[in-house]
Amino acid sequence: MPESNFPDLASALSDRFPAPVSAILQGFAGASASLRDLLAVAPLRDLLGATGETNVQDEATAKLDQRANSIFMDALRLPEVARLISEEEPEPAELGEGAYTCCFDPLDGSSNIGVASVGSILGVYANESGGFYPEFNVTGRGLVAAAFTVYGLPTMLIVASNDRVDGFAFDPEDRSWRLVSPGIRMPRAQYASINWMYRDRWPARVVRGVDLASDGLRGRYSGSMVEDILRVLMSGGVFLYPEDASVPAGKLRMLYEICPIGFILQAAGGDAMDGRQSVLDVPITSAHQRGPLIAGDREAVLRYHHGYVLED
Ligand code: AHG
Ligand code: MN
Ligand code: MN
Repeated sequence: MPESNFPDLASALSDRFPAPVSAILQGFAGASASLRDLLAVAPLRDLLGATGETNVQDEATAKLDQRANSIFMDALRLPEVARLISEEEPEPAELGEGAYTCCFDPLDGSSNIGVASVGSILGVYANESGGFYPEFNVTGRGLVAAAFTVYGLPTMLIVASNDRVDGFAFDPEDRSWRLVSPGIRMPRAQYASINWMYRDRWPARVVRGVDLASDGLRGRYSGSMVEDILRVLMSGGVFLYPEDASVPAGKLRMLYEICPIGFILQAAGGDAMDGRQSVLDVPITSAHQRGPLIAGDREAVLRYHHGYVLED
């Protein structure tokens, strides 16, 4: 066993979260460790490529999207969890009486499988804060914790409560997660992450917002939101996926992409808006609802907002 001066995940979480939330976050971390192992051997085990099927959002499903989905569905089937909502499942899975709903993107950045970093995202919502059942009436304010993993070297797990963000690195020698970046606060913006190839599809208000938000910054865009968000957290910057002519409501999904990432960045001193309001205040009425996301450095997000709300 490697000697480590870094606190392990269970002890770091137990200081910050009630026991049921800590159990859920440890379930997510365990599933992330399993997925990391699969990703590390994917080309050797015939795990690359598509299944030939599409998911509920009409996106081609990669073999690893399905494998990742099974791993997280199994790991989060816990007594504390009433319901699971996955990007890869058409309907919410109703489990029982638990106090929390877990919403997750088992594999974020599918187009990068086998060529660059991918990740996983989790939002833990308190059921008492609003209705998931029988009808949706939810906002991101119901989040009590959020986390994401980036399967790079090192493999990093980021965990947030509403006022604190911690970073853990995976140690493959003893398969532990160790607290290497306690209390992350975003530094000043350096980088803007956006798919600039879509500029011709942006409405005028988005063009104004993007130009104001990215003024003076350098560009970095990976195609895996988690990787870009890790850069925003550690090095400072702003990530933008606005609406455009081909995705008029935005591309990213509220429950398991936008709100968890917004919650994490806010807890690290940043902000996350849809252009007009905090993403955490947007009413969510269906499992796979989409939205725009402008997230990271508070001033950059506000500059976007100022350009966005001007009348055309
Ligand atoms: P997913 O792989 O879960 O469908 O999410 C992909 C998302 C996000 O990770 C990334 O930032 C964005 O899609 C990339 O989309 P574009 O290729 O349109 O830029
Ligand atoms: Mn995703
Ligand atoms: Mn995904």
